[in-house]
Amino acid sequence: MLLSSRPWSLSSPPLRVPSPISTSSMTPPHSTSLGDVHFGIRPSSTSLGTEGPSKANKWLFFQLCPLLTLGLPKILEELFLHTFPLPSFLAKSDYKDLYGYFSSAAASVLDTAEKLGLSREEACHNLLFTTIFNSYGGAKVLFPGILKCLALAHPRLHSRLAEEIRSVVKAEGGKVTLAAIEKMELTKSVVYEALRMDPPVKFQYGKAKHDLVIESHDARYKVSKGEMIFGYQPLATQDTKVFENGGEFVGDRFVGNEGKKLLKHVLWSNGHETESPTVRNKQCAGKDFVILVGRLLVVEFFLRYDTFTAEVGTIMFGSQVTFTSLTKATSSG
Ligand code: HEM
Repeated sequence: MLLSSRPWSLSSPPLRVPSPISTSSMTPPHSTSLGDVHFGIRPSSTSLGTEGPSKANKWLFFQLCPLLTLGLPKILEELFLHTFPLPSFLAKSDYKDLYGYFSSAAASVLDTAEKLGLSREEACHNLLFTTIFNSYGGAKVLFPGILKCLALAHPRLHSRLAEEIRSVVKAEGGKVTLAAIEKMELTKSVVYEALRMDPPVKFQYGKAKHDLVIESHDARYKVSKGEMIFGYQPLATQDTKVFENGGEFVGDRFVGNEGKKLLKHVLWSNGHETESPTVRNKQCAGKDFVILVGRLLVVEFFLRYDTFTAEVGTIMFGSQVTFTSLTKATSSG
């Protein structure tokens, strides 16, 4: 499968970014391009106009506000964001417009859903949810998270990535293919490591469906049916008993045979990285897609640039990365 094909050999001196570009203002693969990619119809060419992203953001805010911190006094945030659901009528008309887009742009997908015995309406709500919440919302957290890890890493890692990516792409005739990405050991490792250090979904809740015992390295905890369980992913993914220097970003951690053995402890998808989602295990259904787009981000970035510097902060529930310098690619691998 061909993912991109274009001239990628660039040569020019380092470039200071005149006005810093921030990941909160950069355009992720927002609902416009996602709509185009999934259904072949750009939302901006429909009655949604250019308002697709703002409507999607508003609806997302209503979904995610229990997790948000806006920097307001704690008492206000707890009361207005974290205690009661926000009244849904405030987002209803935006949702209706988004639904309208999906229901006509994805008509052929909905035809298939009907043939499979699903209700057209239910399938459309689900399609909207996976596109805007999982894909768009996920990318808004995933991409800045990967860039943050790269920004904080040693520039030597940037040169190693550029070297790997460009030499593999060159060997593939200048094309970014799935087979080429599969050969990029370091690139793959960097994406796994970013997801290990900074899993985009950190908090998880669930009610125990039956009595169970949860074990840690040195203790066992009885949980009774009906009890609410809360999990904080970084506690598991940065466990120093499993990962040497577990709290540190080590770009090549998953390279080589020994590195690969650690993959089963990468848990961002609500399951082990070595397992696959099924209808029974509640693992992220977009797991492989997420890994692929994460790798593509790194590949496309280091085909264009040798290195970069950035300021790193936090915004809402993710990282904010503000580029302060970009050095254009000086070699073709
Ligand atoms: C960076 C992006 C993403 C992250 C971090 C992520 C993470 C997760 C996590 C942690 C869960 C488990 C939630 C729970 O039950 O506690 C989950 C479930 C799920 N994800 Fe993702 N996801 C992402 C993108 C996607 C995409 C792109 C899709 C599909 C297009 C998708 C589809 C799903 C579905 C359908 C489930 C529910 C699975 C089930 O309950 O059986 N996700 N995801």
